[in-house]
Amino acid sequence: MSSDLPSHLKAALARLTEGVARIDITRRAETISQTYRSGGGSAAIRSENDALAYALARMPATYAAVSACLEAIAGIDDTFAPASLLDVGAGPGTATWAAAQAMHSLQQFAMLDANAALRSIALDLARGDGRFKQLDYRQGDALVELSVAHDADLVVASYAVGEVPDDRRAKLIDLMWAKTHDVLLIVEPGTPAGYSRIVDCRAQLIANGAHAIAPCPHQKPCPLTAPDWCHFTQRLARSRDHKQLKNAEVPYEDEKFSYVAVSRKPRRTRMEGRVLAQPLMSKVEIRTKLCKSDGNASISAIPRRDKESYASARRWRWGDAVKF
Ligand SMILES: C[S@@+](CC[C@H](N)C(=O)[O-])C[C@H]1O[C@@H](n2cnc3c(N)ncnc32)[C@H](O)[C@@H]1O
Repeated sequence: MSSDLPSHLKAALARLTEGVARIDITRRAETISQTYRSGGGSAAIRSENDALAYALARMPATYAAVSACLEAIAGIDDTFAPASLLDVGAGPGTATWAAAQAMHSLQQFAMLDANAALRSIALDLARGDGRFKQLDYRQGDALVELSVAHDADLVVASYAVGEVPDDRRAKLIDLMWAKTHDVLLIVEPGTPAGYSRIVDCRAQLIANGAHAIAPCPHQKPCPLTAPDWCHFTQRLARSRDHKQLKNAEVPYEDEKFSYVAVSRKPRRTRMEGRVLAQPLMSKVEIRTKLCKSDGNASISAIPRRDKESYASARRWRWGDAVKF
């Protein structure tokens, strides 16, 4: 599965950028990113050009992260074929684009978000794309809008849960779960704070009867203890414009993310473990951190002399679901 923005979306972004001063977009992107870094949220995005700056700066990375999570879900159940999607805190529609690309069964797309400028750009970006003929985007507080939203086979909240104040988050998770017909995916930044929110959401959802399907190979409490945290990474190429926008030198960026996907019913394919860091290969062994189906996480060493296991472990990558 490609984690590159689809060409239709790239073209739509390029069209919206025509005639807009690059320097203005770069400044806006920098201000928004500083706001996020200092703990502020998307309320800093107030105008059309703010929304465009956000979309240009952040959509490639969040798209890559959500695509990786959807790929992990498909890896657990390749028969999962949702017909409807609800994207909560959808912003410019990043997760919706990723889901539309990853899951061709989707026919109905619903988004909701409090931010008028992001809603507007999402609709501009989706306009003219045949996939989004049935698209409904409600503007308002998720805690209000969710009570009137339709159920969906797949509900996604991408980089949105962290913007909801701590004392309202549990209510948000309950409402999202109530609207989930099959799978709920929550993605957060791959920071200790993002991971901590994911762990809380996971525990709340499991207590409500959900089955954890990814990345966790078990239903037990997360075995990691601070300062350790569960996160994954997606490398994405940066175009010349993207480098300029982010004032960056290197031609790629690594997006770190934490996530949990839960389901109404247990999936038949259960993995035995999840790779939690990039494996280290030496002449004698492969060492890697694994979360295992017995609920424990530890560093495992697969010796070269164990030819069969070594051969399969050579293919393991950070984030993979594995069998021993
Ligand atoms: C960091 S952006 C992520 C946007 C999009 N999901 C993505 O991955 O690109 C967070 C989004 O959550 C929305 N949001 C935050 N709190 C919200 C609330 N209470 N109700 C609805 N939307 C909210 C913001 O307006 C913003 O669009």
